[in-house]
Amino acid sequence: MEERYEPQVLAFCCNYCSYAAADLAGSMRMEYPAQVKIVRVPCTGRVDELYLLRALELGIDGVYVAGCLEGNCHFLLGNIRARRRVARVKEILKDIGINPERVDMFNLSASMGIRFVEIACEFVERIRRLGPSPVKTGSGSELLTSGASSTAEPSADNTMTQK
Ligand code: FES
Repeated sequence: MEERYEPQVLAFCCNYCSYAAADLAGSMRMEYPAQVKIVRVPCTGRVDELYLLRALELGIDGVYVAGCLEGNCHFLLGNIRARRRVARVKEILKDIGINPERVDMFNLSASMGIRFVEIACEFVERIRRLGPSPVKTGSGSELLTSGASSTAEPSADNTMTQK
């Protein structure tokens, strides 16, 4: 019997909003995929590009950053900086033949527990469709083999209506 591929996903969540949303989801007894491992950070502005790249280098299949809604960062511009960093990492991934969809940025408020679960489920499903990271499999350029399209920018509106 063929084993179902279970992607490994890392989520950098800011303490004030997305981590609180995860907490709320837990209080509401909602479940999100166990493959998503949360790294709690004080603010997404703390997430360096190297953290994202290092996670992929270590064999994580997909990484996302989840911060406060734009304009609501407790450190003013942390989530704006994080968005730019995610965009730069997507460019780097494209250059080295890894599908940039493996990295993304989301914004949500502390009251969006349901949205937190949706994001986790949708992202895991996205990574499952992409398959194991080529870093892990050593299969070379993912973009050449899959012909996957790429977007350098994080998704335009990923607050309430993300894919
Ligand atoms: Fe949440 Fe900055 S405090 S993104």
